[in-house]
Amino acid sequence: MSEAHLLSNLFPAMQDIPQQWLPGEPQVQKEYLVEGRFEQWEGPLAKVMSPLCLATSEGDRPVELGSTPRLDAKAAMTALDAAVRAYDKGRGAWPMMRVAQRIRHVEAFLERMREQRAPVVKLLMWEIGKNLKDAEKEFDRTCDYIVDTIEALKEIDRRSSRFELEQGTLGQIRRVPLGVALCMGPYNYPLNETFTTLIPALIMGNTVVFKPAKFGVLLIRPLLAAFRDSFPAGVINVIYGSGRETVSALMASGKVDLFAFIGTHKAAAELKKLHPHPHRLRSALGLDAKNPGIVLADADLDNAVKECITGALSFNGQRCTALKILFVHSSIASRFLARLAEGVAALRPGMPWETGVTLTPLPEPGKLAYLSALVDDAVAKGAKVVNPGGGSVRGSFFYPAVLYPVGPGMRIHAEEQFGPVVPVVPYTDIETVIDYVLEANYGQQLSLFGTDPVLLGRLVDTFANQVGRINLNTQCQRGPDQYPFNGRKDSAEGTLSVHDALRSFSIRTLVATRFNEANKALVSDIIQARSSGFLSTDYIF
Ligand code: G3H
Repeated sequence: MSEAHLLSNLFPAMQDIPQQWLPGEPQVQKEYLVEGRFEQWEGPLAKVMSPLCLATSEGDRPVELGSTPRLDAKAAMTALDAAVRAYDKGRGAWPMMRVAQRIRHVEAFLERMREQRAPVVKLLMWEIGKNLKDAEKEFDRTCDYIVDTIEALKEIDRRSSRFELEQGTLGQIRRVPLGVALCMGPYNYPLNETFTTLIPALIMGNTVVFKPAKFGVLLIRPLLAAFRDSFPAGVINVIYGSGRETVSALMASGKVDLFAFIGTHKAAAELKKLHPHPHRLRSALGLDAKNPGIVLADADLDNAVKECITGALSFNGQRCTALKILFVHSSIASRFLARLAEGVAALRPGMPWETGVTLTPLPEPGKLAYLSALVDDAVAKGAKVVNPGGGSVRGSFFYPAVLYPVGPGMRIHAEEQFGPVVPVVPYTDIETVIDYVLEANYGQQLSLFGTDPVLLGRLVDTFANQVGRINLNTQCQRGPDQYPFNGRKDSAEGTLSVHDALRSFSIRTLVATRFNEANKALVSDIIQARSSGFLSTDYIF
């Protein structure tokens, strides 16, 4: 298909958009949530532009979706101070509340959240260009995550309702909150990834300042009232604005105890450095990745190509877990490439609500220029774009480019593209691929495609000490959310899963006493009198 034809009907005219997906009038959001109240921001606003354009007689016109408050450091600090007051050095109503009661607040929030599915899904499409199926999946997966988190916490609490007896010491161990959490999510999963830290932080009894991602901001608005009404004042505060201005001030104040951040390792390192007491700060970080897909000579090609295409190009490659570089054994490289190019050509570009569309415009301004520069650099150093139309652009849309042969010295060999560029590196000696993984700055996941049990067994052992997850004949991914999600080197700090996140946002405290008659009677009296929430044998059903 020619380049011109490929993207000629990409953007719709307003009248071609189905009624239910029309963007509507721009929303002017001035409110932000502090201490259980909506504050009205009278300062400057940040415009929210959609990556989706409208075709008009004057050409493609970007769509303005609205604006959000551009808070300054002072306003952001009022939110942090509200969270500090609600925590009240651990004596606030929320951190002192019994687990069963905190769970009821989160359930109330979930009920209200579910009512907002339609507006959130629509904004996921308009704000970040996520296709309808994936937008719905993001919303539903987030609700499921909350349900699973509640179940996991019940399980933890049930185990903690028992007393232990070790070497004559009677003890009860419970997980308790750490303090004030600052939660920031990424633009590619502005709902899901943010909530996978926000909800565990809250339910464990911490108080929270939440700053939405740089794109996918308006879609949090339909949930603000649910946050306000479901939690005691100050337990959850939502701020907006530039991270540099707001978040830097919060970190420098030293009042943040937990830092949950998904973004680049450089930004995370800069923010962490601002904290005056780094040893008091616990971090849960999801950072850069350059996950390799390694296709061995005996791989099932149909499966490898299928998994590499979804792995590299779901949501246009804008996933931290995306396959960002493919190593293919040179004996099968030409067959692999032909099928890869064919598979990429079958992907449909278009608007997120259109049936079967997987390729959509990109939300980051400047991204097209960056991706084009990566392609130009590789081409100047000897690679070719091997798929028809690869690298074509229109407005905010970048058509996937498959690059071959890619090698060391090209920027795409080392940089995380976070977009629809698929570099393919031929190899003959697997040791060169092993060296790439060993020397890389990142260590999130990798995928191995092959059938030889001896070679695969050896590679699993080699890579198990390099990355957080090895996928056999399967693309890289985060889910199922019960599995650990982490990374090594510059890819992450801490481990998240439904269960691990609850651990990350809490600490164990032990109440212990010598096991004698007097102490047994005392502990039993405390339990009978229900005078402690901690010392209790309550069992949550
Ligand atoms: O952007 C990183 C996400 O955690 C990836 O999640 O593998 O489910 O797309 P996913």
